[in-house]
Amino acid sequence: MEAISPTKPLLRALAGEAVWPPPLWLMRQAGRYLPEYREVRAQAGDFITLCTTPELAAEVTLQPIRRFGMDGAILFSDILMVPWGLGQPLRFAEGEGPVLDPIRTLAGLDRLQPAGMMQKLAPIMATVGLVREALDAHAPRVAMIGFAGSPFTVACYVVDGKGSKDFAITRGLAFSDPNFFGKLIRILTEATVEYLLAQVEAGAEALMLFDSWAGLLSPAQFRRWVIEPTSLIVRAVRKRHPNIPIIGFPRLAGPLLPEYASRTGVQCVGMDTGMDPRWAANALPATLAVQGNLDPLAVVTGGAAMEAEARGVLAALRGRPAIFNLGHGIVPQTPPEHVGTLVRLVRGG
Ligand code: CP3
Repeated sequence: MEAISPTKPLLRALAGEAVWPPPLWLMRQAGRYLPEYREVRAQAGDFITLCTTPELAAEVTLQPIRRFGMDGAILFSDILMVPWGLGQPLRFAEGEGPVLDPIRTLAGLDRLQPAGMMQKLAPIMATVGLVREALDAHAPRVAMIGFAGSPFTVACYVVDGKGSKDFAITRGLAFSDPNFFGKLIRILTEATVEYLLAQVEAGAEALMLFDSWAGLLSPAQFRRWVIEPTSLIVRAVRKRHPNIPIIGFPRLAGPLLPEYASRTGVQCVGMDTGMDPRWAANALPATLAVQGNLDPLAVVTGGAAMEAEARGVLAALRGRPAIFNLGHGIVPQTPPEHVGTLVRLVRGG
């Protein structure tokens, strides 16, 4: 494939250019804090229907772009659509978050059926195609971002069966039954490669791997269950698509972030809220892009508190390839006007 230098600001930053002001998008930029999202969500009925109805999913993907003009449009879907596609029953219970029938034994892994996955997930590829078409026609400087959960974080939900503060069942089984856990991670790694490749082929221009719970692991377990599978995914995806940039977000990785960056081969690392962007900027190669990391709660408060925090993040990102983002997803109680103010502030440099 011919290597053409990107012109979209987000892709330029991912290619290692210190674009200023930094391109921005916000994790969970589509969601319940937007009245227009709540309307489409109500129309869809349930969350999985929303994720698997391309016209509706494309519409909510584009809503924050229309309202605020971010530099990236992230596919509207969920990291748990991979286990759902593999055949694990999943529902999103109102006020409870995701609920899955947990899998905790080798025999239970037979319930995961990789052969049927891409057919079940075909509507998501159609969403990617619709979003990319809309961007090409109406917002040519906005990059289409595809994503998946990282195998470890997805495994947390496959095994525990629902959200948890510490995913003790998952982490316990990773020690007590590494045979089971290793096989689960292998299945998820292969499924994730197939799923991400299909997103690129449908029109995604950058990819992000969400590893929300990576930082719960000990350093040795982090190397085994986070760094190893992530580096396999990065290598497999970039073997087929050498120019596709991949953002890795090993949340709560702390001082393991530089090792994660160098050993996985990602083009950008996401910094969570607690990470000092000045430390990260010094600890990471100057050509590696970083993404982050305003506290989402500062955006709930808005005003001078948000401005001071955002300026601190901006100052730390200056002079290196960087993407302005939050340190975790936008929360539902965020006033949309505060997001507008934030976008203008970042655009002002
Ligand atoms: O960023 C975006 O706008 C793109 C869409 C997106 C969603 N989830 C939509 C969503 C992305 C990238 C995700 C990732 C995701 N999903 C992660 C990793 C990032 C993180 O937040 O740590 C995780 C752990 C999940 C699993 C998940 N999905 C949980 C725990 C929940 C319930 C929590 C909640 O906010 O309700 C979901 C549901 C979910 N995924 C919603 C949205 C907009 C809310 C569902 C609704 O509208 O009813």
